[in-house]
This record gives sequence, structure tokens and C-alpha cells, in this order.
Amino acid sequence: MNISQTPEQTRALIAPLRGQRIALVPTMGCLHAGHISLIRKAKSLADVVIVSIYVNPLQFGENEDFNQYPRTFEKDADICKNEGVDIIFHPENLYPDNGAKVTLKVSDLSNILCGISRPSHFDGVVTVVNMLFNIIQPNIAIFGEKDWQQLAIIRRMVSDLHMPIEIIGSEIIRETDGLAMSSRNRYLSPSERQQSLALSQVMHLMKNNSQQGEKTSETIKYGIENLNNYNISLDYLEIRNELTLKPEHSITPESRIFIAVKVGKTRLIDNISLKMESEITS
Ligand code: PAF
Repeated sequence: MNISQTPEQTRALIAPLRGQRIALVPTMGCLHAGHISLIRKAKSLADVVIVSIYVNPLQFGENEDFNQYPRTFEKDADICKNEGVDIIFHPENLYPDNGAKVTLKVSDLSNILCGISRPSHFDGVVTVVNMLFNIIQPNIAIFGEKDWQQLAIIRRMVSDLHMPIEIIGSEIIRETDGLAMSSRNRYLSPSERQQSLALSQVMHLMKNNSQQGEKTSETIKYGIENLNNYNISLDYLEIRNELTLKPEHSITPESRIFIAVKVGKTRLIDNISLKMESEITS
């Protein structure tokens, strides 16, 4: 496994591999089982797997956790090596010293859900993902479905900017008690860890309670009532179409619940499909 720290080194390492199918797994490090499943998916779909590890300052808001975000490079590198990753791209900084003057801006899909409380977040994400795509020029790139809105926006970027890259979503990996894996879970105190079960539990209650054709407002009301049993602060609980991200007024097989909460100081997000198990084909 090679580790590169600059775009130039990365390009030089990739040059002899062109012609093979190259997969990129973009990450901010602090790798967990969710990332491992992305790497395994990449390995099953491509000849060469590149993992990028970069805590991107541009996607953090002023009062967010950029400085605190866990950096565990040595452990991450061991995981990548064990998983058979070919190259880790681990740049120190991808922006000019005086800050980025050219960035990408997302309209439409970024002014809903997480975009409301994190107004410049998705601009930062697409700017860095665009850079990574330019440096690595992968054939495919794998992203986790926990960040469903991010995945939708990246798909839109690739389509609107005519990038020849296939974007693959990979299913959410959960702890045995249902909490979606996230690098931010390590911020949670034991009691907050317990409270964080609210997300998956309430979404499952909503799913069990909902029926096709039912008004989504009823299901959301039911979810919010149940959330009141947990001591957490709700950012949003919504049901939207999983392809267009437009609000759904009644439940259909394309409906998906999206939730964001704050448990203590930690922001957690999650989502599940409202498709009944019998409708899930893959
Ligand atoms: O999902 C993440 O970890 C980040 O948003 C990404 C895609 C690596 C961009 O920094």
C-alpha cells in the first residue's frame, strides 16, 4: 500500500494504473465499520482502490467541530492495509494558503434538511469532492447512504458538470443496537450514547406505524410525540422522496424518513426507507 501526501505524488502513483478500473472512497478518516464496508464495496467493483483521508475545513461551519474532529491516521492506515487498499491519499492541506477563492456552489438540494442549519456545508463538500475527482480521476466513487443528502448532491454535481464518474451509494452500517455508525459517535458520553438510540428507534416506530397512502404529516406527528420521550433536541424529522428529496405528502415506496438531532453538543443524522420489506428487491 502506498501513502501519498500531495496531488502530484498521487497522480504519479496512479499513472501506471490507468486503464484499470479505479475506485475512490473519500473519507475524513477515523475509519469505522461503515467505512470498511465502503472499502469492501469498492474492492468488489474495481481493480484499484484509493482511500482519501482529509478533514476538509471548508465543510465545517464557524462553530462546528473542525478542530475537535478525531484524527487517527495510524489506525486508519492499518485498517486500509488490512483491507487491501492500494493507495491512501492523505494531504495536509488542499487549499491555497490564503484560502480558497474558487469554490463550487450548490443550489436547490442544499437549502433543505441539513443545509438549513449548516448553510455552507454542502458547498464545502462538493468543492473538495470535485478536487479529489480532479486529482484522482476515478471511474467510480463510493459514498455512505447515512449522508443521503450529500450523496444526492454529489450525484447532481456529477450529472450537471458532466463528470465521467459513477457514484455508488453504500448502505448504512449500524451498531447492534441500531445507532448508525459515525465518527462523531465517539463524542457521546455513556448517557448520551443511550439517548442517541432515539433516532433509529423512532424511525422504526414510524415505519411500523405507517402504511402506504397514509398522510406523512400523521407519521411525522407520531414520530415527534415519541421523540419527546428522549431528552434530545430535534433539528428536523421529515419524510421526503428519496430520489428527488422533495417533501412527500403521502407515503409511497420512494418515501424516506430523514432525521437530525443534537444529543448534548453532538449532531447526529440518520435516515430509513419507508419501503415495506416485501418491496425491497436488493
Ligand atoms: O462524508 C464525508 O466523510 C465527507 O463529507 C467527504 C465526502 C469525505 C468530503 O469531505
